[in-house]
Amino acid sequence: MCGIIGYSGNRETKEVLLNGLYALEYRGYDSSGIALSDGVSTKIIRSVGRVCQLEDKIRDEENFSANYGIAHTRWATNGEANLFNSHPHQVGHVTLVHNGIIENADFLRQKLIRKGYMFNSDTDTEVIAALLDSKLEGNNVISAINMMMKELTGSYALGIMVEHDPNLYAVRKDSPLLIGFEDDGCFLASDITAIIQYTNQYILLDHCEIAVLNQGNYQVYKNCKLIEKEVLMSDSKGIDPSKCGYEHYMLKEIMEEPIVLKQLIDRYKEEDRQKELDLSNYQEIDIVGCGSAMYAGFIGQSLIEEYAGIKVQVYSASEYRYKRKIYHRKTLIILISQSGETADTIAAMREAEKIGIDTLGLVNYPDSTIARECRRVILTNAGVEIAVATTKAYILQVCVLSLMAYVTAKNKGTLKFDIEYEEFENVPILLESVLERSYEYQAIANQIYSKESCFYIGRGIDYAICMEGSLKLKEVSYIHSEAYQAGELKHGTISLVEEGMPVLCVITDKRLKEKSISNLKEVEARGAKTIVVTTFELDDFGGELKIVVPVVNSFMQTILVVPVLQLLSYYVALNRGCDIDKPKNLAKSVTVE
Ligand code: G6P
Repeated sequence: MCGIIGYSGNRETKEVLLNGLYALEYRGYDSSGIALSDGVSTKIIRSVGRVCQLEDKIRDEENFSANYGIAHTRWATNGEANLFNSHPHQVGHVTLVHNGIIENADFLRQKLIRKGYMFNSDTDTEVIAALLDSKLEGNNVISAINMMMKELTGSYALGIMVEHDPNLYAVRKDSPLLIGFEDDGCFLASDITAIIQYTNQYILLDHCEIAVLNQGNYQVYKNCKLIEKEVLMSDSKGIDPSKCGYEHYMLKEIMEEPIVLKQLIDRYKEEDRQKELDLSNYQEIDIVGCGSAMYAGFIGQSLIEEYAGIKVQVYSASEYRYKRKIYHRKTLIILISQSGETADTIAAMREAEKIGIDTLGLVNYPDSTIARECRRVILTNAGVEIAVATTKAYILQVCVLSLMAYVTAKNKGTLKFDIEYEEFENVPILLESVLERSYEYQAIANQIYSKESCFYIGRGIDYAICMEGSLKLKEVSYIHSEAYQAGELKHGTISLVEEGMPVLCVITDKRLKEKSISNLKEVEARGAKTIVVTTFELDDFGGELKIVVPVVNSFMQTILVVPVLQLLSYYVALNRGCDIDKPKNLAKSVTVE
């Protein structure tokens, strides 16, 4: 993953780079670093941990005045999160920052060692710096970068400085990189949020194009030839860093769910607008995503199959991109991604487009790669999510899929009961009432937070809900948690159930209620501490710990249940003293395979 930024211009370089790093921190926060140049010498400052720790170190160097520089925030891939492995890396005349993974780094390292290079880190990035340095002799920088690219296998977005050269260089392959500009300055950045406070004008670098930045001027080269690029304008508002009085962004973002949900439901009030949700042209649908986005897909699968009668398969993008695809009938691929930058999801999209299968991106971030490249796009417009664990964006993904199932079923005439669109308009208010009862979920969190392992069980759509609930818990609280199909638990996994182990069971599907209750009893008999999440309509059975949510039509029931599980995870993590908004080892945007 990692985030990179570079700046050349009249602004205070250190400030621009630091602000950019804060905005990019969601891409990784294992370490960060900065390289500054005044045109004569280069100063590198690096720090393990958060950007604020780097900032403290930079403040000690107040008197170095730079007119250009590069910076990096790291999610460790090659080599552990220590100072040696932090970027920027400097070898010979080259200093650079990198986002991506070089697949032939070991081979290149050996080759470069034979040429006399020595390495101080375990990173593939240091190998790139050495490789470029080795190409500089007798060549200008652009030719050297082109020669370097011919030898690199893998993905990279690079910000490069070369000793005694006043230019900044940027190049990319498979990892995102854009160039922003204003009258007296140019930027390179992994995404627009890093620079939006300075400019909304940018160009996108395509594969293997090289940008040269110098104060307010930039040129782009392809195969050593100067090329013209289309200037784009972003209407991103950037990140609003305020927590609005909440202790964490995760809690703030959960509490925003009713508002963003209402906006989304209002968007499709007009029948004309609903056309973009209609899937009735398709006979098969593949839903592809990672993490929560994939789990939203499972909710979609359940509803679209049940009500619209279209076969739906859900895949993790990292598996989908390499599997053999068999398309028999008219197929749509729905790519779900909050960030729109997840490397595997992008790869799946590009592959589908290449073979001519229809694609539809369901994305939150409007300036993202999927939002730009996908043939058809529906934006969730949940607003910026800062907490690494997604909450409101997931709810809107589910809402779009639910509306797709509804609109398609109506258009195909497969809906066996009457629902008017107005019924959906009530859901945000009901959701508000669910969120208002957070003290109930907190009380349950108080009883389970010290456990080290738990299960979430359910059947049908309730199992899909469990997958997201369980992921949320492990992401933010580090409790080992598994989601299981309630009926499948006894085929082996029940051997792990111990006295006092929390087993949370979701029951919203009337037809499967009794079956799930039986499974609950099976684990209770083995000492599990059971927690039930169900609806008022189904709540006629006993149980020690129970959360009951209002009833809505089955298209939207998930939207009243998952927020309960989000809050439960939040309070468990709070009790355990976890770093809720930036859980260890995670990053919000996963831009490597
Ligand atoms: C990472 C995040 C998850 C997220 C997944 C997919 O793993 O930590 O919270 O669900 O990526 O991200 P996307 O931006 O594609 O929805």
